[in-house]
Amino acid sequence: MNIILFGAPGAGKGTQAKELTKKYGIPQISTGDILREAIANQTPLGLEAKKLMDGGNLVSDDIVNGLVGTRLKKADCEKGFILDGFPRTVAQSESLDKILENLNKKIEKVIALDVSDDEIIERITGRRVSKKTGKIYHIKYNPPIDEKEEDLEQRADDNRETVMKRLEVYNKQTAPVLDYYKKQGKVFNVDGGKSLEEITKNIIEILEK
Ligand code: AP5
Repeated sequence: MNIILFGAPGAGKGTQAKELTKKYGIPQISTGDILREAIANQTPLGLEAKKLMDGGNLVSDDIVNGLVGTRLKKADCEKGFILDGFPRTVAQSESLDKILENLNKKIEKVIALDVSDDEIIERITGRRVSKKTGKIYHIKYNPPIDEKEEDLEQRADDNRETVMKRLEVYNKQTAPVLDYYKKQGKVFNVDGGKSLEEITKNIIEILEK
């Protein structure tokens, strides 16, 4: 099960990837999470990525292609993987094809989560992440039972101004990735405006078809 979860910033990729990881026992590979870990560890890569991410811009293709290439070689990807936030440019899709060809694998399905811009802005500005567990919450739609217990924080790029920039970058640079996979007949659209549970159910139906 080699799949891509595709969608605009805040569409719910990370939330759904975590559900699928639980169900299928395959890893979620989030380039955003890998980059945020590099920032937290203050590595040279992290320091370079931070400026771009805080401004809502993409990190260079070479950097993320290298990160994903290394990650996909790990043993836990043998049974499959869920890519979240990658590929984000057509050049990244082409690089992914080459990486997978060398590993004798290919992308089977691309699940595209469709969500309106207004909903995206509300979701991102209300998102909180648990420092302790990495679990994703929303102050209105998916609040934690005990806020103190979860030690919540807001991502540096989750403010209204950066969200507008991220949406612009998505429409210009990332939306064309969908056409790349549509031509290969691999895209399955899901209404990402539904409840978390309904979306998970719809995705599972597609994956098990
Ligand atoms: P990344 O971390 O990938 O961010 P993103 O794509 O902008 O996506 P998000 O993590 O913001 O949202 P999501 O779709 O996972 O939504 P979530 O499930 O959290 O990238 C960050 C930055 O890193 C980029 O801007 C770029 O600089 C860099 N980067 C990363 N990958 C790169 C790449 N490949 N190339 C170059 N640069 C790269 O949900 C959002 C909120 O909504 C949560 O609060 C959640 O609780 C809530 N929610 C989710 N589903 C629902 C629902 N159905 N109903 C109500 N609320 C919901």
